[in-house]
Amino acid sequence: MAILDILTAPNPHLHRKARPVEKVDTGTQKLMDDLLETLYAHGAIGLASVQVGMLQRVIVIDLGERHTCSIKPLFMANPEITYASQALQMTTEACLSVPNFTGNITRPLEVQVSYLDENNVQKTLTAEGLLADCIQHEIDHLNGVLYIQHLSSLRRNLILSKLTKTKRNRR
Ligand code: NI
Repeated sequence: MAILDILTAPNPHLHRKARPVEKVDTGTQKLMDDLLETLYAHGAIGLASVQVGMLQRVIVIDLGERHTCSIKPLFMANPEITYASQALQMTTEACLSVPNFTGNITRPLEVQVSYLDENNVQKTLTAEGLLADCIQHEIDHLNGVLYIQHLSSLRRNLILSKLTKTKRNRR
């Protein structure tokens, strides 16, 4: 396993759309393991391939003590939302690709997601609360969408300009 470098905004690669996985093979499993090790190294709860510059549709999720699902960690290839509740929830989200910021995001409270697990087995999972929020956040990444795109343009531009300044100062 390896800890991978995380792309941070602003970066055009974070807005690329990941491609479906044909079959979860040993290469996909290695990516899943590396994503999980990277997630744990940063104390995060979810990570998507696009954040490390890979374009397979793969996400990993482990909510730690807040995990509400018997499968832990969750490895998902080709995750697709097949149902989203009309009931909404607001969650304070953070993202390794948007370091040092958070934002209040409103999304469906409950979702059903179909996916291939780490053994290439088709699964369906119903999730609510933080797990549902995290799944939606990570699937957004696979479609090239950051959570800040759900914020007002004023707030988003403020965050992006501060991140740009931080990057400039690091050079
Ligand atoms: Ni994220």
